[in-house]
Amino acid sequence: MSILPILAYGDPVLREKARFIEPEHPGLPQLIEDMWETMYKAQGVGLAAPQVGQAIRLFVIDARPFADEEPGLSEFKQVFINPEILEQSGQPWLFNEGCLSFPELREDIRRQPTIRMRYQDEHFERFEESFSGLKARIIQHEYDHIEGILMVDHFSPLKKRLLRKRLANIMQGQVAASYPMKFTSRKR
Ligand code: NI
Repeated sequence: MSILPILAYGDPVLREKARFIEPEHPGLPQLIEDMWETMYKAQGVGLAAPQVGQAIRLFVIDARPFADEEPGLSEFKQVFINPEILEQSGQPWLFNEGCLSFPELREDIRRQPTIRMRYQDEHFERFEESFSGLKARIIQHEYDHIEGILMVDHFSPLKKRLLRKRLANIMQGQVAASYPMKFTSRKR
């Protein structure tokens, strides 16, 4: 297993719409193992394949650290392959989110509380399932990644303007991340 560098905001791979994959996708079991290790090293609860440079529809979630806040999360560790959100419903709510591609930045983001989705697990078994609360929240965040959407896209124009300098610093590598990162726009 190896720890992969996480792409920082500014890398074009984070903006791609990720591709569906087949069970024969080369190196898939290894990639999933590496993503777990990379996520744990960075103390994240979710990691999407585009964040480690592969624009494919795959993300991993281990939300057990949040079990204190929501007991249903005590066993929520899962691999999602080829997910498709079919429906989102309910009154949008705010939650303070972070993202491993935006070190040291946390912002309140508004999302709907319930989703219905179709996905495959690491054995390519198919599921259709509903999720709500923090489970849905974390899935929605990771799902955004495979659609090329980033947390900054949820900010109001005002918030974006207020954070302009910090966002530029992230792109240019002027941040102290405690895990390996790749800064495409690093200033020399
Ligand atoms: Ni993220």
